[in-house]
Amino acid sequence: MARLARLGATLVLAAGIKRWIAPAVLYVPVRRWAAGGACESQARMDGKTVIITGANTGIGKVTARDMAERGARVILACRSLEKAEEAAKEIRSHSGNKNVVVQKLDLASLASVRQFAKAVNDAEPRLDVLINNAGVMSCPRWETEDGFEMQFGVNHLGHFLLTNLLLDKIKKSAPSRVVTVSSLAHAFTNGIDFDDINYEKDHSPEESYRRSKLANVLFSRELARRLEGTGVTSNSLHPGVIYTELVRHRQERIRGVVGEQLSRVANKIIEGFVGIFGKTCEEGAQTTICCAVAEEWENTTGLYFSDCVPKETSAAGMDDEAAARLWDVSEKMVGLKS
Ligand SMILES: NC(=O)c1ccc[n+]([C@@H]2O[C@H](COP(=O)([O-])OP(=O)(O)OC[C@H]3O[C@@H](n4cnc5c(N)ncnc54)[C@H](OP(=O)(O)O)[C@@H]3O)[C@@H](O)[C@H]2O)c1
Ligand SMILES: *[C@@H]1O[C@H](CO)[C@@H](O)[C@H](O)[C@H]1NC(C)=O
Repeated sequence: MARLARLGATLVLAAGIKRWIAPAVLYVPVRRWAAGGACESQARMDGKTVIITGANTGIGKVTARDMAERGARVILACRSLEKAEEAAKEIRSHSGNKNVVVQKLDLASLASVRQFAKAVNDAEPRLDVLINNAGVMSCPRWETEDGFEMQFGVNHLGHFLLTNLLLDKIKKSAPSRVVTVSSLAHAFTNGIDFDDINYEKDHSPEESYRRSKLANVLFSRELARRLEGTGVTSNSLHPGVIYTELVRHRQERIRGVVGEQLSRVANKIIEGFVGIFGKTCEEGAQTTICCAVAEEWENTTGLYFSDCVPKETSAAGMDDEAAARLWDVSEKMVGLKS
């Protein structure tokens, strides 16, 4: 009888192991693999100034907090002062660094970009790191204040003008760095359509996002070429897949198609999936942080990073002719050149 009970208990235990413990044991290596490298650098940023666009939420906020913890003066460049102030308060109390300020920047308005750059150029004695992080994904064909398709306008053109207007300050502070947050999505498009750059003939929310992220890669590469010998580096990166507010417009679109209830279920499944196979915001910020502070990359420029190391990009991402052409077209679009 006792032997039978023991056998029963063993069987129950074995079933339990199979059902729960095996996945639990697997969970650790899967998570470690998904997290993708951390920035090991202990570099301090005391006396240095860092600007991060879109720093009120998502990976931008974690990046800002990390810079504050390293002692930098941190400027959160955000379109909502209310949200930005809330994030700044949290970062100040978390890091104990009082030198965290907010400054209004709406990348969907060239006037706002100019106003922001002027305020920084007038008031800040130096600018050591500019992190072009803000982004919008998969929205309908909305237009910016200046009539640019929203994703190209915010993700690329806004940052293009911003960087150019701050470049003198960045050069004077050399060695300094420009970091542009792109996405792996850039590798899934064949290239920029220079005949319809503003998507007047044809618009797809997803393709427009991919191309805007390709524009980030090409911009960063061309910027590096132009900055050779100045002591300023320029790199772009893929942060990983992270469940953030970035999905908001895509979710709205899905809700429109399948309805409220089904879309809620789909979101839960996606969130769960990203929870296991994707990154947390802390993990997602690591590659940006590496590019911004790590000593080992201080002279590295013109590259594309992922999981804290340089990675190959797509053929379209290495197209220097397209990069030069995009620079030229962008200069005209934002009014830096007539
Ligand atoms: N999450 C991912 O899986 C993933 C993957 C690859 C690449 N990325 C890239 O990572 C970057 C950060 O994304 P995230 O996931 O942290 O997204 P997020 O949580 O949605 O944060 C995006 C930030 O950009 C800001 N922003 C949007 N439009 C703006 C505008 N017109 N002017 C100024 N700021 C604006 C948002 O401000 P509001 O809060 O006011 O809207 C927010 O602060 C983006 O460039 C994104 O393309 C993310
Ligand atoms: C970067 O370049 C400087 C100047 O040439 C050099 O002293 C330094 O060791 C280099 N750093 C790395 C990580 O290669």
